[in-house]
Amino acid sequence: MRIWVTGGAGFIGNHLVRHLVRNYPQDHIIVVDALTYAGNLANLSDVAEAPNYTFYKADIADATAMEALWQTHPPDAILHLAAESHVDRSILSPRHFVHTNVLGTITLLELARGLWKDRSDVVFYQVSTDEVYGSLSDEGFFEEGTPYDPRSPYSASKAAADHFVRAYGHTYGLPYLISNCGNNYGPYQFPEKLIPLTILNLMQRKPIPIYGRGENVRDWIYVEDHVRAIDRLLRAGRRGHTYLIGAENPRRNIDVVSRLCQLYDEITGSQDSLSLITFVTDRPGHDYRYAIKPSPHLLELGWRPQVSFDEGLRQTIRWYLDNPDWIAAVQTGEYRHYYEMQYGSRLRG
Ligand code: NAD
Ligand code: TYD
Repeated sequence: MRIWVTGGAGFIGNHLVRHLVRNYPQDHIIVVDALTYAGNLANLSDVAEAPNYTFYKADIADATAMEALWQTHPPDAILHLAAESHVDRSILSPRHFVHTNVLGTITLLELARGLWKDRSDVVFYQVSTDEVYGSLSDEGFFEEGTPYDPRSPYSASKAAADHFVRAYGHTYGLPYLISNCGNNYGPYQFPEKLIPLTILNLMQRKPIPIYGRGENVRDWIYVEDHVRAIDRLLRAGRRGHTYLIGAENPRRNIDVVSRLCQLYDEITGSQDSLSLITFVTDRPGHDYRYAIKPSPHLLELGWRPQVSFDEGLRQTIRWYLDNPDWIAAVQTGEYRHYYEMQYGSRLRG
């Protein structure tokens, strides 16, 4: 099978690509990635020489480039991960999110509609987020059938893309799958998201910004567990179905950050990391709580999360400690500019 992985140089993408390249030598994995600030070829350096791996740098919204790639490497499956993925950036500049998440997705769908005509052995797999379901109060879960209610520019753009994928399935018979997953964490995550940002600030002994009172809840999953679920669904998921992926691990932000501080002190012998926690002005429109009931059919297929939260956090902390060069390479001028825009005045009080 020839598999395109869009966004394969990003955080989840690089784990997925490594998993597919190593476990399916008979498949050809083609990464399509624009290498934005969030994409990094160094993330894929250990598969760069693999015979079943090809990298192609392009914007998924560029129809000419996508068509040219289709001519040389026509796919049997598209695992679509390329996206602008950070809520805070979507609040600062929503337009980029429409370009990649909506127009980029439609560009791929249009090609698939024309070039996969009458094929039922192919699949367009849209990797999406639980954030499309909106925000929960203290009770309840997102489950299959929960209506979409996106509330940030990021989740609105992902919801729009999900709806287009379903519309192409309904209208043109495109074989598709969608999965909506909770908050991923693990090695190679860009340090704008809560967990890697906390670890870097611990390493650099900088204040750790927590929005509001830290009472917002996210449902966390180790990235490799998400990757195993995508693989399972690619091979055995029902076409035309939308799956929820989660490790049933909802936690308050303050508890996540406090646990990271404790584990960091245990691993490094540092002291008093908890004192770095700093409450700052809340995110505008901050969704209160996410919690996921994983799809029954995914569980019937035998998928279970394998990495406990403590174990995943330990592995993640160790990875950042062991990879100062990776950190130096991503903490560019662009990152420092973003950090100042996002946190400068909040942290100065
Ligand atoms: P990421 O931001 O780390 O990586 C995104 C990748 O997409 C980067 O490699 C970037 O270069 C690439 N990209 C961006 N715009 C592009 C364009 N126009 N053309 C081609 N490539 C482009 O994101 P991630 O955290 O790895 O998320 C991957 C996917 O999973 C996204 O679709 C996201 O919505 C979804 N998702 C993420 C999470 C999470 O917690 N991170 C949870 C659920 C779903
Ligand atoms: P984030 O990692 O940005 O993921 P998402 O917004 O997609 O859930 O944020 C996770 C939670 O942590 C969210 O409730 C916002 C909060 N948060 C902070 O409190 N401080 C921060 O510096 C960041 C980046 C996030």
